[in-house]
Amino acid sequence: MHNLSLFVGLVLMYLSTLCNVTATNKLPKGFSIDLIHRDSPLSPLYNSSMTHWERVQSAALRSVGRVNRFRQSSSNNAAEISEQLTQTDIIPDDGSYLMKIFIGSPPVERWSVADTGSDLIWVQCSPCPQCYHQDVSLFDPTKSSTYKSESCGSRNCALLPQRQHKCGKSNQCLYLYLYGDQSKTVGDLATDSIGFGTSDGQSVSFPKSVFGCGHNNLGKFNRRMAGLVGLGNGPLSLISQLGNQIGRQFSYCLPPFNAKAATKLRFGEEAKISANGVVSTPMITNPNNPTFYFLNLEGITVGQQTVQIDERDRNIIIDSGTTLTLLRSSIYEQVETLVKKAIGADQWIVKNPQLNLCYTNFNSIKNVPNFEVHFKGANISLKSQHLFLLVSNDVVCLAMSPTDGDSIYGNIAQIDFDVEYDLDQRKVSFAPADCTKQ
Ligand SMILES: *[C@@H]1O[C@H](CO)[C@@H](O)[C@H](O)[C@H]1NC(C)=O
Ligand SMILES: *[C@@H]1O[C@H](CO)[C@@H](O)[C@H](O)[C@H]1NC(C)=O
Repeated sequence: MHNLSLFVGLVLMYLSTLCNVTATNKLPKGFSIDLIHRDSPLSPLYNSSMTHWERVQSAALRSVGRVNRFRQSSSNNAAEISEQLTQTDIIPDDGSYLMKIFIGSPPVERWSVADTGSDLIWVQCSPCPQCYHQDVSLFDPTKSSTYKSESCGSRNCALLPQRQHKCGKSNQCLYLYLYGDQSKTVGDLATDSIGFGTSDGQSVSFPKSVFGCGHNNLGKFNRRMAGLVGLGNGPLSLISQLGNQIGRQFSYCLPPFNAKAATKLRFGEEAKISANGVVSTPMITNPNNPTFYFLNLEGITVGQQTVQIDERDRNIIIDSGTTLTLLRSSIYEQVETLVKKAIGADQWIVKNPQLNLCYTNFNSIKNVPNFEVHFKGANISLKSQHLFLLVSNDVVCLAMSPTDGDSIYGNIAQIDFDVEYDLDQRKVSFAPADCTKQ
């Protein structure tokens, strides 16, 4: 009897905590997950026989590949769009950060590319008549008790752009993505539980998350990656799906290029940055291109001079997956001229196949000028670590390149800043931080 009342008491206590949680605490407090730079020794893609120089060169190449796809996705070149498959915004192997996800019930662990430049979450699924080779087994939907494919007429299916879905043989929703380099993934749009190991050793999982179960994936994919997690702004991205559960906000803090530290991707209350010196700028979205987070870049000051940017050239995508900062050619040229003038070490300039302005000898950039980026309402002061990339023992290069496509604010410029995205208040905030001490 005693035991029974104790038991009932405990149950009541338990129920009342549950009610508390649902009634007063609609948003979970927030959580963080580890984000690993692909070239970090913690990464499954880490290649210990590559030199620092090789890593930097391939990162630069990936940036250029990425801007090409941004350009393709923002143009509407019908010739590039095949009858059934639509050019989409992802080249799968070019992101810079990786994360682990847990999918299904019971959950299976998979590495995937974390990408602020795309939306859909997808993994390779069995059966797979055409899959790229992957080191771990394919996700088997028949082994997950919570897996459910979406029907062709479902609301989630309609969230895919019109030309990226069609009805399958059993009236299921088929998604179709063709990448800029002709890679592709095709499969069933489905829901299942997707979870993460949090940085404090706990786990969180989100039932009924929408993802692509890829049964036909071909092209330039990395065999250590089972898929991709889209962190963009479109309706099917992880961020949009977690939505109100994370207060529609997330943040990250990227440590220097070769730091042996994981980065944290923070959600909900943990995403809030409260440091001194926070500045914020409006986040702009383009209905024709809902994936990207655009900012408004009004000018760049180098030394004492400011490059003013024309109204029509002010949109710039902020992206954690692109290494370099890419500026529209007319802006880039003015900035480069001012940087050269301020450094005044023309005799040390050397040619480089990937990067535009390189100097031999670290001392030659000792006079790194005052460099300020003027986003609308937010001035950000960049130091030499944001501006120059050490590409070998005696060569440093400006971490910026010209582009004919959209400008991109890349990840080197974001190193050692807390960067917070607030989707409700439509703003991106920055505060200087030491990202190795997170
Ligand atoms: C690792 O890097 C070396 C040197 O660049 C290269 O030859 C080798 O193919 C790479 N290995 C893998 C698995 O990518
Ligand atoms: C940013 O810098 C510009 C140019 O120096 C200045 O005119 C402007 O007031 C600054 N804006 C803010 C929000 O500090």
